[in-house]
Amino acid sequence: MHPVSPLQILTVSDESIALAVEYLRHGKLVSFPTETVYGLGADATSKEATASIYTTKGRPSNNPLIIHVKSLEDAQLLGVFNEAARSLTEKYWPGPLTIVVPIREGAKVYPAPHYTVDTIAIRCPSHPVSYELLHAFGKPIAAPSANRSGRISATKAIDVYDDFKDAPGNLALILDGGDCPEGIESTIVDCTNVQPVVLRHGSIILDELSIDSIKTSELTSTSGMMRSPGLLSSHYAPSLPVRINASHLKEGEVLLGFGSAMDEIATHGLNLSPEGDLEEAAHNLYSYLRQLDIPRWKGIAVMPIPDEGLGKAINDRLRRASAPR
Ligand code: TXA
Ligand code: MG
Repeated sequence: MHPVSPLQILTVSDESIALAVEYLRHGKLVSFPTETVYGLGADATSKEATASIYTTKGRPSNNPLIIHVKSLEDAQLLGVFNEAARSLTEKYWPGPLTIVVPIREGAKVYPAPHYTVDTIAIRCPSHPVSYELLHAFGKPIAAPSANRSGRISATKAIDVYDDFKDAPGNLALILDGGDCPEGIESTIVDCTNVQPVVLRHGSIILDELSIDSIKTSELTSTSGMMRSPGLLSSHYAPSLPVRINASHLKEGEVLLGFGSAMDEIATHGLNLSPEGDLEEAAHNLYSYLRQLDIPRWKGIAVMPIPDEGLGKAINDRLRRASAPR
């Protein structure tokens, strides 16, 4: 029999939030829902606590963390905002936008506990549970996505549990606040220069980022000094191989479909959105990939997703999931 995991999973209540705060104060990790995906949170002001995120996830030490705050005012204590940072955050916070800005001198947070940084990624989430936790804790929370490094992000508490139950590391508690509504990570915009640059496609679509002259970064390779080290080409990967833009099934594959044409290709698999709705597809993406990722199949074939709006973020994740490992 499996030993019972010491990892707790509790539905959100005043009591479980209070317990989460207790754990955070003692340097433990707490997983909590955001509007995008579940986060693996630590007291951002503690070097030891943020360092334990790396050992718990198996995260490379050169990949900095996003710092979560409850308000724009709190964010401005940590980072230096230029015009672009101000207008983007005024428009999209709270919400699934992360901005990268110069770190404020003397800011007592550890987005990268293993070295010194001159920039910081900050996000003010809109999920009520994120807000309640940040408010009750009273300090910023450092949090990457709550999955083992390189694997699929988690949009359900049970998926976090499955990833960490056998080796919880420093993770003590998962706050179960239901499914994450958006299902895909935040959009990251680098605002360290006058010209903002999108580093990661995400939940806020680019056409919406109605700011003059926004650019999309070409920095997706592993070469050179990366501006976003988390954007390695192989990432978000299930155990099974993933084949994208599939128009038919190969022997042993299962289909991750999109739109009404799925029935013509396969009788088994899951459909991200029978109606061809990209929001619905983003919401289902990670949980469906996890469901199909079982030894019964040899691989996951994914139908083409239109490369527009949220489809850009979905395709970005699928490309990384299908990249050579
Ligand atoms: O939606 C989200 O953003 C979720 C939820 C939990 O907030 N978080 C998330 O964190 O996706 P993570 O660690 O899985 O991805 C953060 C990305 C990584 O690619 C990392 O390299 C990049 O943000 N990043 C962090 N700090 C950065 C910085 N100062 N400059 C550039 N990129 C940075
Ligand atoms: Mg991640």
